[in-house]
Amino acid sequence: MKLVRDVPSADERYGLQWPGKRAAIDLALAPAGTSLVAVPDESVDWERTKNLLIEGDNLDALKLLRADLQGAIKLIHIDPPYNTGKNFTYADDFQGAESVHTDWLNMIYPRLLLARDLLRDDGAMIIHIDEHEHANLHAVVSEIFGAANLLGVAVWDKRNPKGDASGLAYQHESIFFVAKNRTVFVEAGGLRRRKKNAEAMLAKAKSLFARLGKVDLPSDLKDVARRYGLADASTDPFRRKIDLVRVNEEFADWVRSQNFSGGESAYNKIDAEGRVYRLVSMAWPNKKRAPDDYFLPLLHPVTGEACPVPKRGWRNPPETMQRLLSRGEIVFGADHTVQPQRKYRLDQNLDENVPSVIAYGGSDDALLAELGIPFDTPKPVELVRDLLAAVLHQQPGGIVLDFFAGSGTVAHAVMLHNAATGDDARFILVQRPEPLDAGKRDQRAAAEFCDAIGKPRTVAEITKERVRRAGAQCPSAPGFRVFRLA
Ligand SMILES: C[S@@+](CC[C@H](N)C(=O)[O-])C[C@H]1O[C@@H](n2cnc3c(N)ncnc32)[C@H](O)[C@@H]1O
Repeated sequence: MKLVRDVPSADERYGLQWPGKRAAIDLALAPAGTSLVAVPDESVDWERTKNLLIEGDNLDALKLLRADLQGAIKLIHIDPPYNTGKNFTYADDFQGAESVHTDWLNMIYPRLLLARDLLRDDGAMIIHIDEHEHANLHAVVSEIFGAANLLGVAVWDKRNPKGDASGLAYQHESIFFVAKNRTVFVEAGGLRRRKKNAEAMLAKAKSLFARLGKVDLPSDLKDVARRYGLADASTDPFRRKIDLVRVNEEFADWVRSQNFSGGESAYNKIDAEGRVYRLVSMAWPNKKRAPDDYFLPLLHPVTGEACPVPKRGWRNPPETMQRLLSRGEIVFGADHTVQPQRKYRLDQNLDENVPSVIAYGGSDDALLAELGIPFDTPKPVELVRDLLAAVLHQQPGGIVLDFFAGSGTVAHAVMLHNAATGDDARFILVQRPEPLDAGKRDQRAAAEFCDAIGKPRTVAEITKERVRRAGAQCPSAPGFRVFRLA
């Protein structure tokens, strides 16, 4: 039987369609139907602060921000409603009549269109999502920002599978990283993070290295040392060499026993100057053979014989190999039978790329309880601080916007980031005054909290109070100005 292929009709094309898409775009293009009203009474340190909290729906807020801040925001971090169909302190049910996804798409699409406009050319956006709208968010982000500007989607391993699963028990959420312009963003420094355990590793190595010449040798080595008169010769080079081997063994054991990332635990060696380093192959990385002059052998410094050359050649041209050699950045084996490797020092490589799996098992329930703030599902502030830092390292003083502020975690994270790094990043939060219903089980605590602090029963009151209380704990907390949509 002959198969007849369908000829694509003119209006068939790749992309995401849903009922209401045209209207969603129109919504983004329409002018704001309102204006901003200053609320100094609700603010903290109105005169000096450069931070902002807007109480109102984020669609209009984004339009109003555009008047002053188009192309000015370094980082937008959002944690929008996931469309789980449940209700928390805030509503999370966007399941339209047409399909369970239409209302959510109609909600997110115009807001992301506006968000993109606010970003600087070297700006980026971080978006949290779970399995409910992951596929749609991927499609929408690719369409609005261009697929090439999607820097990646990280898996946040929460280390704890959901208990109520009927299919897979999800234990992860996703975090989208997208640039306004990938090339400009990467040139500005891209996504980087500090190696979390680098300081501890350097400190450990330092304390071990201080024992050179004083290491308690095993009895057979002790005999050898005594025979050669090296027993207490703490400056004797031979004795130091023996000790360095012992110290290295101890350091590698210690590194192995810690819960370090792969990028960290590779740094498991200490050199004769006490510096922590790792070894990396210097082999040519491509399938294709390297040019002919990439095959010159290196001579072993002790035996004087040629060491093995990688099958496909060296990674670097001869001039670079020579430079690395003269700088002591090539490490030889005990003799010429071992292929030399490149030395990378930990103190010169304190940063690393952000990997696509981020393991973080904690929740901030206890932190919020300590602050006295009732809010379901806040993002862990330490996690958010790390996410922000992955972008803010590029230059100081960036503006961070979160237009689904919830309990105000992003403001708290910016304050902690500033305190830890000396940066003076600023925050802008938007949170609508979503009413809290004391009759609903999930909202009762929050509604009663508003009563207790003498404020109207809305989520925005929770946001403001969290940021006030978190700010009171941060040294030199810079306050925030409150505006309301008229
Ligand atoms: C998932 S929560 C964010 C939680 C936050 N990341 C935290 O750590 O606390 C989403 C928040 O967005 C708010 N929100 C939803 N739609 C909004 C809109 N159109 N304008 C402003 N805020 C909105 C909800 O009230 C809720 O507080």
